Amino acid sequence: MDKQAREKAGLRGVVAGATALCSVGDGHELRYRGYAIEDLAAARTYEDVALLLLRGELPAAAAREAWQQQLAAARVLDPAIEAALLALPAGAPAMAVCRLVADLLACAPDAPDEPEAAAAALLGTMPAALCRWMRAARGQEWPGISRAPSLAAATLEMLHGTAPAEADVRALDVALILYAEHEFNASTFVARVTASTRASCLDAVAAALAALKGPLHGGANEEAMRLISRFDSPAAAVAGVKELLAEKRLIMGFGHAVYKSGDPRSPVIKEAARGLSERHGKQEMFAVAEAIEKTMLADKGMHPNLDFYAAVAYACLGIPTELFTPLFACSRLSGWLAHVGEQRASKALLRPAAEYVGPGPRELPPAA
Ligand code: COA
Repeated sequence: MDKQAREKAGLRGVVAGATALCSVGDGHELRYRGYAIEDLAAARTYEDVALLLLRGELPAAAAREAWQQQLAAARVLDPAIEAALLALPAGAPAMAVCRLVADLLACAPDAPDEPEAAAAALLGTMPAALCRWMRAARGQEWPGISRAPSLAAATLEMLHGTAPAEADVRALDVALILYAEHEFNASTFVARVTASTRASCLDAVAAALAALKGPLHGGANEEAMRLISRFDSPAAAVAGVKELLAEKRLIMGFGHAVYKSGDPRSPVIKEAARGLSERHGKQEMFAVAEAIEKTMLADKGMHPNLDFYAAVAYACLGIPTELFTPLFACSRLSGWLAHVGEQRASKALLRPAAEYVGPGPRELPPAA
């Protein structure tokens, strides 16, 4: 398939609807409701950004306080959900665990079905459930639900069983902000299609989770880490990537459907990853990542997307690789649900047309 046909098949550049949530400009910037992603990452928290997406404006102090209390109160593990997590077979895919959590929440008779309430329930339960499941799978004692004030702090505390350093919390918060929303990407579009049928908020999230799992989308951060981990020096990374490119293999964490001259989120997460690598003694891993970046630019003219240095940042924070995509999902919950709200408001059922390329009209042969 040539480039033009591939772009057409991938619906590149097709305007499939309207949104007030997020814009990518002409493919060089990213803004949430008008605010530059760099400014939000530098000066706001994930909790503020989630409210910006869900309500339309950044919160004032009282609204922030109330939202944080709502999220902290939602950070519970229903005994039925905990029992289901502990009954899962070894090696269960972590994104299937995320879907299970969304589906179990949907089974409750009082399941939330308004975007903000669903976001609070999911933002409370999902990280707790993932940490509970992961620690049990590793035979580690469960420290209990964290009462830390932010999603980033609570996640690190529940995962590691100790109070995290402030700098680590801030770095994870930056990653959560960068991952929170991204216009009509594949999983968000799936969420909107699902919501357009008048399915529930939790149904839309379950569908989006399935789409996010793939390595061309959310799964790329895990694949990027697997690539980086293969090399024990920058020189080995350069040689290895050149070999993979010669075999016409995809290098995960590079390229983007929209950003052709660089993902604006990448420099932000790269600096966070650099700081983390210095604090956690992972400078060699960072150097390997930079060697891959330089090789991809020199040999392919391609830039890293958010997933590439997010993988380095997560690894420095001691997050297991199989939780990279689930953490992306936790962050994107606010974006997905804000889109569900928009889609519901439009009242339209998404049902595009197809270009038919099959056989022309023909006579039905007698049955054999
Ligand atoms: N590594 C190596 N080559 C790549 C590449 C990558 N990560 N991404 C694209 N290419 C190549 C393609 O093979 C194709 O080469 P060809 O013209 O010789 O066949 C060319 O670049 C254009 O690729 P195309 O798939 O049309 O680009 P796209 O812009 O539609 O694809 C992605 C965007 C994200 C699907 C693609 O870049 C990719 O698969 N990246 C890796 C997965 C990833 O990181 N996903 C997370 C996205 S945030």
